[in-house]
Formats: sequence, C-alpha cells, structure tokens
Amino acid sequence: MTRHLLLPVVLAVVHTASAQGLGGLWPVPQPVFTSGETSLLISKDIEVTLNGASLVSSTNHGSSSVSSSSLVSSGVSRALDNIFSSNFVPWMLVPRYKLSSYEPALNGTIVSIDSLAITLTSNNSTFKPTAADADESYNLTVTEAGEAQLSSFSSTGVLRGLETFSQLFYEHSSGRAWYLVNAPIDIQDAPTYPWRGVMLDTARNFFPVADIKRTIDGLSYSKMNKLHVHVTDSQSWPLEVPSLPELSAKGAYTQSQVYSPADIQSIQEYGVARGVDVYFEIDMPGHIGVVGEAYPDLVVAYNMEPYTTYCAEPPCGALRLNNSNVEDFLGELFDDVLPRVAPYTSYWHTGGDELNAQDYLFDPDVNSNDTAVLQPLLQDFIDTQHTRIRNAGLNPLVWEEIVSTWNVTIGSDVVVQSWLGGTAVQDLAASGHKVIDSNYNYYYLDCGRGQWITWSNDLAASDFPFNDWCGPTKSWELVYSHDPAEGVTDAATKSNILGGELALWSETIDSQNLDSLAWPRASAAGEILWSGRLDDSGQNRSQIDAAPRLNLFRQRLVARGLGASPIQMEWCTLQQNASGCAQPA
Ligand SMILES: *[C@@H]1O[C@H](CO)[C@@H](O)[C@H](O)[C@H]1NC(C)=O
Ligand SMILES: *[C@@H]1O[C@H](CO)[C@@H](O)[C@H](O)[C@H]1NC(C)=O
Ligand SMILES: *[C@@H]1O[C@H](CO)[C@@H](O)[C@H](O)[C@H]1NC(C)=O
Ligand SMILES: *[C@@H]1O[C@H](CO)[C@@H](O)[C@H](O)[C@H]1NC(C)=O
Ligand SMILES: *[C@@H]1O[C@H](CO)[C@@H](O)[C@H](O)[C@H]1NC(C)=O
Ligand SMILES: *[C@@H]1O[C@H](CO)[C@@H](O)[C@H](O)[C@H]1NC(C)=O
Ligand SMILES: *[C@@H]1O[C@H](CO)[C@@H](O)[C@H](O)[C@H]1NC(C)=O
Ligand SMILES: *[C@@H]1O[C@H](CO)[C@@H](O)[C@H](O)[C@H]1NC(C)=O
Ligand SMILES: *[C@@H]1O[C@H](CO)[C@@H](O)[C@H](O)[C@H]1NC(C)=O
Repeated sequence: MTRHLLLPVVLAVVHTASAQGLGGLWPVPQPVFTSGETSLLISKDIEVTLNGASLVSSTNHGSSSVSSSSLVSSGVSRALDNIFSSNFVPWMLVPRYKLSSYEPALNGTIVSIDSLAITLTSNNSTFKPTAADADESYNLTVTEAGEAQLSSFSSTGVLRGLETFSQLFYEHSSGRAWYLVNAPIDIQDAPTYPWRGVMLDTARNFFPVADIKRTIDGLSYSKMNKLHVHVTDSQSWPLEVPSLPELSAKGAYTQSQVYSPADIQSIQEYGVARGVDVYFEIDMPGHIGVVGEAYPDLVVAYNMEPYTTYCAEPPCGALRLNNSNVEDFLGELFDDVLPRVAPYTSYWHTGGDELNAQDYLFDPDVNSNDTAVLQPLLQDFIDTQHTRIRNAGLNPLVWEEIVSTWNVTIGSDVVVQSWLGGTAVQDLAASGHKVIDSNYNYYYLDCGRGQWITWSNDLAASDFPFNDWCGPTKSWELVYSHDPAEGVTDAATKSNILGGELALWSETIDSQNLDSLAWPRASAAGEILWSGRLDDSGQNRSQIDAAPRLNLFRQRLVARGLGASPIQMEWCTLQQNASGCAQPA
C-alpha cells in the first residue's frame, strides 16, 4: 500500500541571504523583501536618473558643488559617498578567514550595476510633515542584469530607498571594487509607525552642533524621522534668543555653549535634507528655573533647597502662574523663536512634566499649593501658549502629566508624549489623544548607569550601591522587545499611537559618550517602529534573526563616523548568523 503524501508548498517571502551575515538590512524592509544569491559590483560611474533625467554621477559625487537644493540629488550624493567612501570590508561578519568565499572574485566576468533609475511620482514635499501626511514608502529592485530601480511618492520616500540601496554594498578587500551578494532584490517597504525619534537633552550637558548633526545621521541611517531637542531646562539655557539676549547671556553654562539662530537653522536644514524633522522643546512651566538668572521676577522657587521638596532635580524653579509679566515674556520669546523654526518643522513641544505644586507657595500672585487653585491657572497657561504655537503654524506637544496629572483639556491637534510606563500610552490613546511612547522602562537610554548624585559617608549606606531611579540599563534586546501598541486591538486606539522616541537625558552624557549610548540601541527601536514588532508569520521578531543584522548595521554606523557600541564580541559576529551566541534551550 502506497501512501501519497501531500507536501506543503511553502510560498512565504524568501529572505535567502538576509538572515546571514551579508545581505542583511536594518531596519528590515516590509512587507516585501526577497533576495537571491548573485553577486554584483557597482560602478563608480553609476548613472543616476530622476524621472528619466540625469542627476549625478561619480565624476562629481561628494564634491561640495553637488549640495544642491534638491533633496533627492543631495540624498543620491550621500548614498554614493556611503557606498564608495565610507564603506567597510566585512571580514568580521563572515567565518574567520573565509571572506574570499563571500566576496566576488574580480578576475572573472561579473555584472556591474551602472544605473539607478529613480521615479518620483509626485511633487509632494514631505519636508515639513505632520505625522499623518508623510508617505515614506518606496519600492526598490535590483536585477541580476544589474539594473536598479527606485520609486516613491515623496522625496522622503526616495531618501529612505537610497538608504536601503546604500546598505546593500560592501567594500571589496582589494580596495578596488564595491559589491552586493544578494541579487535579484525586490523590496516594497513602508513604515509601521509614522513617528520614530530620539529626544536629546542639550540643557543638562551641552552638545556642539556637530554632535547634533551626527545624531541626525544616525537617525536617517536607521530610517528614523524625528529629533526632539529638549533645548532648555532649569540647569542651562543654551538657546540664543535675539530679542531676549540675557536668556543665553546669563543662562548658558558658558558663551561657547550657545546655539545661535544660524546654528538652529543649520541643524534643521541638515535634518530636512536627511528626512529628519528637528523640533524643539522649551519645557514649562516647571523645569525652567534658569530663567531666574536673567529675569528673577518671572520664576519662583529657583534654587530652592532642599530641592527634593520643590522639584525632581536641582536647581528647582518654575514660571509664575497668573502673572502678566510672564505672559509678556513668553509672547516675546515665542514671537522670536517660532517663526524661525516653523519653515522646517510642524511641531513645538511645550513640556509640562514634573510640575511641583509646592513651588507656588512662593508665587505672590497665587500663594497656594492647592491643585484646585493651580489647575485652572495651568489650563489658562497651556491654552495661551498653545494658541501661540498654533498661530505660528505649528502643532503643540506636551508631556503626559499635563493631561493625566493636571487634567488640562488640550486640543485634538496636541501630541502627548508619555514616559511614565504602565498602561499610560494605551489609556491616553484610548481616550482620544495622539500619543508617542517614551516609556522609561524601555526607551530611556540614559538609565541604569548609576547616579550623578554624590553621597556623604553618613548617607552612603542607605543608598548603596548608588543605583539611579530607572535601572536596569536598556539593552538593545530590551529596547527591541517593546512595541508601543503591544496588545492594542481597537483600530482607533491603535492609530492614535503614532510611535515613539528614545530619550537621552544628559546628566551623565556629553560629546564623549553620546554615540555609544545612542547607537545602535536607538536603531533597535528604529527597526520595531519601522518594520513592526511582528514578522511575516505573525511572531515577535527574534533577537536571533536581528543580532547578525544589527552587528552589520553597527559596523556601517562605525564606517560612517558614528561611535556606535558593539553588541557582541567578534567571536559571535564571525559565526554564520551569530548562531553560536544564542542562549541554549
Ligand atoms: C544560520 O546559518 C546556518 C548555516 O548557514 C543556516 O543553516 C541557518 O538556516 C541560519 N539561520 C538563520 C536564522 O538564518
Ligand atoms: C581567479 O583567481 C582565482 C584565485 O585568485 C582562481 O582560483 C580563479 O581560477 C581565477 N578565475 C579566473 C576566471 O581567472
Ligand atoms: C511637478 O511640478 C512640475 C512643475 O510644477 C510639473 O511640470 C510636473 O509635471 C510635476 N510632476 C508631477 C509628477 O506631478
Ligand atoms: C510598490 O509596488 C506596489 C506593488 O506593485 C504598488 O502597489 C505600490 O504603489 C508601489 N509603491 C511605490 C512607491 O512605487
Ligand atoms: C500629494 O499630496 C496631496 C495633498 O496632500 C494628496 O492628496 C495626494 O494623495 C498626494 N499624492 C501622493 C502621490 O502622495
Ligand atoms: C489671577 O489674577 C487675577 C488678576 O490679577 C486675579 O483676579 C485672580 O484672583 C488671580 N487668581 C488666582 C488664583 O490667584
Ligand atoms: C501644601 O503645603 C503644605 C504645607 O507645606 C503641605 O502640608 C501639603 O502637603 C502641601 N500640599 C500639596 C498638594 O503639595
Ligand atoms: C484630576 O482628576 C482626577 C480624577 O478625577 C483627580 O483625582 C485629580 O485630583 C485631578 N487632578 C487635578 C490636579 O485636578
Ligand atoms: C511578543 O512578546 C510580548 C512580550 O514582549 C508578548 O506579550 C506577546 O504575546 C508576544 N507576541 C507574540 C505574537 O508572540
């Protein structure tokens, strides 16, 4: 008797080379990514066309004359630079001393990619996107015959596709060629969440403009699209405001640590060119004590001790509520700053975290710490500032306490940034707010590294071993495990969850350790926010699939000038898909 077995035919999307050392992309394209096993070279004279017209060739790529106003042509120029000038020989991603069996031999006949045809099917600019109206999708194909095609509906989509294109290639160990290993390639790619960002605090410690631009590079390489600059706090005011010059003249730590209007403009333009929306936060009415350096009459509880009674971190200080001089000051501040940032972004963050009612015992107009007295004043305060933000053509953001602690009614245009964890993101989204997730249990990249506080011997024993408040450290695996909309099934609630931002509060971060703390951990969230937490088969994306690709991506970040941390020892990266470094069952 013969049994006829019906073998299941597997028609799933094939990721032939993507899970192996070479051929992996970060974030992984979705919904479609198929690839083969044919190696191709790429010609240094590649001709790039946009809607049929020649755009740029290697004869001028990289030269400053190419930095045209066109977002696409400068994107092409950077992608070619990343392929030909900032690439790497991937010996560390294949088994020890086996690179020659992965890279193509150059003495035979091997096809070269000598054209990239870009199709941009609308003139829609996405350079000042609100969360919903940016179409970042793109399609990319590379045939075995060496024809590359990229299509998109927006310039930002083209930039995302160019990033993917640049990640396909390696430098040959001969130093004379650049190649990919996985043609034919067919990609249809689009983000899961529209808001994928990092928040950088430039007030606790200052970051030079070059650091901020390098952070924008890391975001764009990770297909992330928001840089939220927490530009002032109670400790320092590095933002030059020409109509209120004393703010930075007295409030910056030193005069070399000031962002001029030209600096702000160049940071935003740098972001626009890379598909990264740079927007700013002046936190208020708390977290703003430093205004007292220039305008002592506008703030209360500045430097008040013990700080634990009046704020979360010294120096304390909050804007007076119900005071017309404060309103005049804020009117002047916003009239100066908002029109300068508005050409480049659609957002402005008014802060609102950790407001301490005790401060208002010292406010001569209020004289109370009763929340029933303070709440209506705060409502008026927020209403007034948000009207100013809207009048400048911007959408306001607030920290979640404005809504969830203070019951302030906000407009439906306001994006709420949640950090307190628990079910806050879901609860805010379910009650109709647009929300971005910065849950400190997953997305606070400063956490778990010990305290900036110092203890006397008398007190040391009670706080030994001097942990910070938000440990453990958020490893890339922990970051990667988090999905802002985990478990949310209601479609309306889900669509209110716009995405997330990784936070870099900077009490113990400055130029020297910024890159190593940000990268590649922010990129781990970048993949979840772009590609989704679930893979094609509906399973949580696996660290075992992710690790080799993240090793590869980290190597690209380093090759492109970011001081990204290793996630594993080289013994792991040298194994086929890092298989020996998986936790045994
Ligand atoms: C890892 O590499 C081995 C050897 O090539 C292969 O058999 C296996 O399928 C790979 N695993 C994944 C997850 O790609
Ligand atoms: C190319 O060189 C390799 C060794 O470097 C050799 O094994 C191979 O036969 C050569 N192929 C051709 C087509 O010459
Ligand atoms: C883009 O704009 C130009 C000039 O306004 C117009 O000629 C062209 O047809 C437009 N292209 C598309 C794809 O809309
Ligand atoms: C990508 O290809 C799919 C399938 O053909 C198509 O529906 C989509 O419009 C294409 N997107 C772009 C940006 O060309
Ligand atoms: C271009 O923008 C308009 C207005 O926002 C929108 O209706 C249209 O769908 C966009 N076109 C494409 C191809 O994205
Ligand atoms: C706020 O200021 C107004 C006008 O000065 C005053 O009438 C009112 O009592 C103040 N409110 C509080 C709660 O102090
Ligand atoms: C208000 O201040 C009083 C006196 O300092 C204190 O006992 C009380 O706990 C405070 N209330 C709030 C809401 O902070
Ligand atoms: C906000 O509303 C909650 C629930 O009604 C209440 O417990 C809380 O006291 C309110 N907070 C303020 C500041 O009014
Ligand atoms: C994914 O992991 C989370 C925990 O991080 C878990 O709650 C969830 O059930 C998992 N989803 C699937 C589809 O396995």
